Amino acid sequence: MADHSYDYDVLIIGAGPGGYVAAIRAAQLGLKTACVESRETLGGTCLNVGCIPSKALLHGSELFEEAAGGHFATWGITATPKLDLGKMMAEKTKAVGELTGGIEFLFKKNKVTWLKGHAAFEDAHTVNVGSEKVTAKDIVIATGSNVTPLPGVTVDNAGKRIVDSTGALDLDEVPEHLVVIGGGVIGLELGSVWRRLGAKVTVVEFLDQVLPGMDGDVRKEAGKIFKKQGMAMMLGHKVTGASVKGKKVTLTIEKSAGGDEQTIEASHVLVSIGRRPNTDGLALDKAGLSVNKRGQIEIDHDFRTSVPNIWGIGDVVPGPMLAHKAEDEGIAVAENIAGLTGIVNHDVIPSVVYTAPEIAGVGITEEDAKERGLSVKIGKFPMMANSRAKANRDTEGFVKVIADAETDRVLGVWIIASLAGTMIAEACIAMEFGATSEDIAYTCHAHPTHAEALKEAAMAVQGKPIHM
Ligand code: FAD
Ligand code: NAI
Repeated sequence: MADHSYDYDVLIIGAGPGGYVAAIRAAQLGLKTACVESRETLGGTCLNVGCIPSKALLHGSELFEEAAGGHFATWGITATPKLDLGKMMAEKTKAVGELTGGIEFLFKKNKVTWLKGHAAFEDAHTVNVGSEKVTAKDIVIATGSNVTPLPGVTVDNAGKRIVDSTGALDLDEVPEHLVVIGGGVIGLELGSVWRRLGAKVTVVEFLDQVLPGMDGDVRKEAGKIFKKQGMAMMLGHKVTGASVKGKKVTLTIEKSAGGDEQTIEASHVLVSIGRRPNTDGLALDKAGLSVNKRGQIEIDHDFRTSVPNIWGIGDVVPGPMLAHKAEDEGIAVAENIAGLTGIVNHDVIPSVVYTAPEIAGVGITEEDAKERGLSVKIGKFPMMANSRAKANRDTEGFVKVIADAETDRVLGVWIIASLAGTMIAEACIAMEFGATSEDIAYTCHAHPTHAEALKEAAMAVQGKPIHM
């Protein structure tokens, strides 16, 4: 029921995957909805400078590498590919344009009003968008995140020497030597793009393994695979400074614990040491809100902040900074605002690294289990023994299933495989329905498919895989 004392029933700040999905769902539920976005286009980080352009370049660069001597050569196909970087970038830009335009179409279709400009609170029900005052009964903060800066290493995307992910998605030449600071998801995905296109790539990672947060076996195996692909890995090191002279960047690097200072030279540097919540210029205090020590807006189980009519979702609130997590929270928050019951099961949020092979996981790691004192059984199955992977000659990786030792309930699944990002969806469904490893093991899987490796890993939990 519309409340006519406000301009809108719901006002959403930010049109990323969290905000735009919340806006569409709220409108579908009959609420008068507006969404404020300061960017020129809708879709937030994900569509404009994140998921979509990075996946477009990962796809294009993978085709180039395949043709340049990857699987083409394995299959007796000879090709001498020539790179037109401008065309590759243009195709990426086209994909982004089609998708951001698609959200604009969906806004119109669902009668969501797009208020263009930067939003700042005046009070808990009023937001200033430029010179305009807009009031709403409920307000959702979905302002996302931006790049964490590294002291001593100044990002200058326009200068194209020391860049963040946005700059690395838009270089106009293949770097001679790209130094990636941070062996996390962005560093490995974008490092892979430029390595495939011909750059020498060095990853400097503070910790002693890449991909923090993922299962230990997966991190170890991933590190080996990236090294084999030609990325130089400086694990247990940190960059302490960088200076640019013409086309050269000189970096000072030392061991993470300190000492052993050395310098290395690069043509380009990518700073990818994480992202931080975006609350700049929001004037949260005027609405009676503040942020926690990590700069996040705290929310309760229903996505409500400490101010009852203000809600928070996506990268700006605690939890993994992932587009699908933001989207699911967007749907749930709109349903809660409409008086329904919106829930997100944060124990089953998959994460995928879109390299080749892909790396994916959901639920707990073996290390988490130890830390929590959980007794678990583990089943592992190598892609080397999967018939489809073998036929395709893409046998890198494995599937690992972690199940509760007593109940057999699946608590986590970790995969390195060419199709890991697609395979993980089955694990999510299984976990969402509370499946045991036996349930997966006794589910008929089509043959020959990569997915059979998940079935076999589930059988391995009972110690009874067939093909190993
Ligand atoms: P955002 O997408 O950050 O959107 C927030 C929007 O709010 C922005 O458009 C911003 O302009 C706007 N805004 C902020 N403040 C205001 C204000 N005061 N007024 C008006 N507008 C404002 N995640 C995945 O799941 N899969 C991937 O493959 C993936 N790849 C990525 C690759 C890269 C290079 C990067 C950087 C990120 C990637 N991510 C990926 C992460 C994903 O992009 C984020 O988790 C997701 O975009 C978060 O959605 P959000 O809606 O919370 O915020
Ligand atoms: P990240 O948190 O994944 O990785 C950052 C890495 O930098 C860590 O390994 C950390 O140990 C390291 N590090 C920190 N300080 C350092 C220093 N001074 N020197 C060297 N190494 C240092 O962050 P990243 O890669 O920037 O990505 C940010 C977020 O964006 C991710 O956490 C993820 O949520 C999201 N994202 C998701 C993608 C996907 O789902 N495929 C793709 C890209 C981004």
